[in-house]
Amino acid sequence: MKKLIGPFSQILTLSGMPVNGALADTQLEIISDGGVIVYDGTITEAGNYSSLAMANPGISLEEISGQHILLPGFIDCHTHICFAGSRARDYSMRIQGRSYLDIAKAGGGIWDSVVQTRAADETLLLSLLQQRASRHLLQGVTTIEVKSGYGLSVANELKQLRAIKNAAANADGPDLVATCLAAHLLPKDFDGNARAYLDHILTDLLPVIKAEKLAERVDIFIEESAFDCADATYYLNAAKALGFDLTVHADQFSTGGLAVAVACGALSADHLEASTTAEIALLEGSETVAVVLPGASLGLGMQYAPARKLLDAGACVAIASDWNPGSAPMGNLLLQAAVMSAAEKLSTAEVFAGLTYRAAKALKLGDRGRISSGQIADLQAYPGNDYREILYQQGQLQPVSVWKNGKKIK
Ligand code: NIG
Ligand code: FE
Repeated sequence: MKKLIGPFSQILTLSGMPVNGALADTQLEIISDGGVIVYDGTITEAGNYSSLAMANPGISLEEISGQHILLPGFIDCHTHICFAGSRARDYSMRIQGRSYLDIAKAGGGIWDSVVQTRAADETLLLSLLQQRASRHLLQGVTTIEVKSGYGLSVANELKQLRAIKNAAANADGPDLVATCLAAHLLPKDFDGNARAYLDHILTDLLPVIKAEKLAERVDIFIEESAFDCADATYYLNAAKALGFDLTVHADQFSTGGLAVAVACGALSADHLEASTTAEIALLEGSETVAVVLPGASLGLGMQYAPARKLLDAGACVAIASDWNPGSAPMGNLLLQAAVMSAAEKLSTAEVFAGLTYRAAKALKLGDRGRISSGQIADLQAYPGNDYREILYQQGQLQPVSVWKNGKKIK
């Protein structure tokens, strides 16, 4: 049934704004005293509430009392929330001054989460993933990308990806977009032979993922401690030939990954904390989205990705949480984006674009991230009548209402 939701003191539609480059707040389309018409989970119209009510006599009303600001649901286009166990021990060592890479060499790091995730059965993984996805949804995140990458064997990667597929089947949950990150780290069982492991994944894992429709995307961690540029290029091109979309963990501690991502036509290059002007220039004219991950900078106590420079160079910049047990355990996307905006000097328009339609581009999703006709009715409302309060309160202001496919779930 068709319904009119509102009135809202402000609707930030995020419509009509460019996909690339810097944005000023004056470019934000704001509908005052707005309403949204939803039919069958899709937005058919957004506009002045009274005018919409008058033009649609008899329409069912979902009335909102009090003052609220409506935004599209956020899209977290980079997470690792399918994991078991904790890395609190790593964190306690890091805040005492040990480095992430050092701790990894000493038996902590990603491998520790692999051991803990391998020990969990699919039912436990599913329930942990569902808890994290629900928490995110209540904080206004209506679409979440979720990577595997803590299995690092055919059986354990499949266990993770099947848990993600099962969690995605929950009609009242957020949409989940699965990515295979079997190339997160060279598993210890492969004796340093990266090509042998990547060939094993290409032959024995990716075809099963295709057949079972577990993921359409493949990711790789390019770093001195993980895979080098030559092996990554080989793997990404082979995965592309199998029909997968690509995304890359690039330039987190050292450079090289972003160049590979652009050359392979990846949908996104994520992290970029180490990228300099020379790497940023590689994005010019490319369709690859630059995904910055302030949660990893906060979790590791290291510099942010150069989001300001990326935007000024014309890149499409999305902001994601990187929620994972190691480098980014917090998982509060809005808080992280707000804190990064103060350090990197990002406008509110740039932050909200990075959390909505620009993040949708990183996931190749054209049907969400804006409040306009034809878009999925994934929406969230914050108390108040001034959208600037949302970043100002640095994550403390939470959405009071969240809609998934037009259905109010909070
Ligand atoms: O995006 N950089 C590599 N992978 C994750 C961290 C995973 C972990 O520490 O468990 C990241 O930060
Ligand atoms: Fe990550």
